[in-house]
Amino acid sequence: MNDFHLSRRRLIGGAAALALGSRAAVGFALGPARQEAPARVEQLIARMTNEEKAGQLTLMASAQGGAAASALNPPNRNDVEQQLAAARAGQLTGIFNGAGSDWHQRLQTAAIESRLKIPLLFAADVIHGFRTVFPVPLGEAASFEPDLAERTARAAAIEASAAGIAWTFAPMVDIARDARWGRGVEGAGEDILVGRRFAAARVKGFQGEGLDRDDSVLACAKHFAAYGAAEAGLDYNSVDVSERTLREVYFPPFQAAIDAGAGSVMAAFNDLSGIPATANHWLLSDVLRGEWGFRGLVVSDYTADEELIAHGYAADEREAARLAFLAGVDMSMQSGLYLKHLPGLVADGSVPQSRLDEAVRRVLVLKAKLGLLDNPFGRIVRGREAQRVRAAGALALAREAARRSIVLLKNEGPLLPLPRSGRRIALIGPFGAGQHDLIGPWNVYGDDQQAVDLATGLRRALADPGLLAIVPGSGVEEPIAGGIEAAVAAARGADIVILAIGEGAHMSGEAQSRTEVIVPRPQQQLADAVAAVGKPTLVILKNGRALALEGGVLAADAILVSWFLGSETGPALADIIFGDHGPSARLPVSFPIESGQEPYHYDHRSTGRPNPPGPPEEYKAHYRTAANEARFPFGHGLTYGRIVYADLRLGSDRLRSGAPLAISVTVRNEGSRPAEEVVQLYTHERAASITRPVRQLKDFRKVAIPAGGSVTVHFSLRAEDLRFVGPANRWSVEPGSFDLWVGPSAAEGLAGRFELLA
Ligand code: BGC
Repeated sequence: MNDFHLSRRRLIGGAAALALGSRAAVGFALGPARQEAPARVEQLIARMTNEEKAGQLTLMASAQGGAAASALNPPNRNDVEQQLAAARAGQLTGIFNGAGSDWHQRLQTAAIESRLKIPLLFAADVIHGFRTVFPVPLGEAASFEPDLAERTARAAAIEASAAGIAWTFAPMVDIARDARWGRGVEGAGEDILVGRRFAAARVKGFQGEGLDRDDSVLACAKHFAAYGAAEAGLDYNSVDVSERTLREVYFPPFQAAIDAGAGSVMAAFNDLSGIPATANHWLLSDVLRGEWGFRGLVVSDYTADEELIAHGYAADEREAARLAFLAGVDMSMQSGLYLKHLPGLVADGSVPQSRLDEAVRRVLVLKAKLGLLDNPFGRIVRGREAQRVRAAGALALAREAARRSIVLLKNEGPLLPLPRSGRRIALIGPFGAGQHDLIGPWNVYGDDQQAVDLATGLRRALADPGLLAIVPGSGVEEPIAGGIEAAVAAARGADIVILAIGEGAHMSGEAQSRTEVIVPRPQQQLADAVAAVGKPTLVILKNGRALALEGGVLAADAILVSWFLGSETGPALADIIFGDHGPSARLPVSFPIESGQEPYHYDHRSTGRPNPPGPPEEYKAHYRTAANEARFPFGHGLTYGRIVYADLRLGSDRLRSGAPLAISVTVRNEGSRPAEEVVQLYTHERAASITRPVRQLKDFRKVAIPAGGSVTVHFSLRAEDLRFVGPANRWSVEPGSFDLWVGPSAAEGLAGRFELLA
């Protein structure tokens, strides 16, 4: 964490100044119209100096950080006094990742002593829970239950708002198709539809019944745009995708978030075909405001305006501030450049006064909507934070969300569920026991010490906890001397082995790109050695991304993907392992055969030389060592039932605009345990003016099916569900022949066909 802190600060100072010509000022779309802003806002704008206006556009990291944030921004007496002074001087619009209500109370009191008494806005990265920690967003997406994400976002908002927080930098809605990129863990995976549904659900959860409620937080859809398309999966790297791909793949989750009412958007760090997102007028003004009519606030990412210099796009700080501001970034995070340069830029005519007023209006309108202008202390009520955090209901939700995020990749035998008694279990691996790596990456306020580890979860569930032997066997990325020998001995003395292996929390998240998406080598060696013992083995993966599994890991009898499950990791895993609940989650990202396939996503195009099903053929699209397919496809996940799909029916073999196609399928559970199945509907247009993905998810439904029971699932497919971004970069629907599948993953299903008529 300290390294991270240092690198962030270094970044601020490290941007070199380049002598470049300045770029012409461009027009911008209006934000909340004057007449829409409360009179109070206009009165304030009329009284503000340009320095005070620049202050309202300046957001800084808290001088006193909350939990992990204290490592990012360690408390420093001078910083604290300076921040209080900045609040009193009207030079600050708010802070982020602050320490909690007492500190927020002090700062707000200082702000209320400023000339115009404009309250501060307290923001935070509440990505997957506050003090109660829910599964990482990628894990939660595996539930294929947007409603669940809405509930956890709501619970997170209730806790965070009790600490005075009124704005979260979430949801992260970047589509992520390259498992090397570490930030995929913060989003909903590779699929557009899943991304849209989870984006909308999370926004609704955060913003709740209304922004002025004391338990609501303003959502921020980030990072706009295509941050997840970083070349080679390297975080912060350049992005060069077509406008079509932007519109068809990367924009829709942002549109969904905005349609759901998201009041703010964060501009991304990356450049887009040579123009940094933070200075991209087309993106931030033409598309976001002009086309989509977004009226909320655009905030930069952390020092991203200043980074325009390092990008080689701005010559110096002043130009960086001007370019970001004119492109449409209303608020600057952490660089301080707006405070420093906007008044001067307006004074010499480089930035129109109207643009400054417009951005300030957006900020003040949001502060008004959040109830801050009327009641600056509405979310800062003594005692409320302690009362609202880690309540029993929230922890129960954390356990439910965690078990609904666990994906069963394979289950030979079937090994799972395990019996609670009569078996000696060897729990092997670095993630078996201990208060570490439980809450996962990007959680500012959670605490591993308060989370329940796997060993504790198992012990609580076992009839005789004495039969559980625990051996780490390996560190996360380093071997332990004698570790493998001890693990092999434990495996020999056990009836069943549970291998808890995978990635540490530090291996995904920001700036944590990997060149190989594998189980770290020392753990792979451990798994291979343990597999050679030959005992029935369950692998429990901890992971922030899709992994390419091999050797002893892949050969295990059963594999559970557990991501980072948060506060209730151990109990949730025990719920699944011993069968109190069945696994119901699905992969929101394809697990490749080998790392070198990345970026791999199920909805790729066919190529002119697809390899037909079966063995590799000469001069067809495959690798020398791997097929062009996933080891475990998108949408895959087993249950404890035995699911059979039958009787696919289409209401017609033709689909017309305005007359949806009715589709139904019967899903039977021929097993002896109840199951929850995620029934997925995919289509493919055979020929179109733009080549179409081999399959694309159009709808999904999770249904509970009792043992021996069956459920008929109905879908309704509309012509507009089949639209794509056509040759002129506009959405269009093209008549033609379609394949259709209804099934349990992107690689299976009952097939049908229909014609889309003009
Ligand atoms: C991240 C953002 C985050 C911000 C504030 C940046 O480094 O990219 O996602 O919201 O920091 O912590």
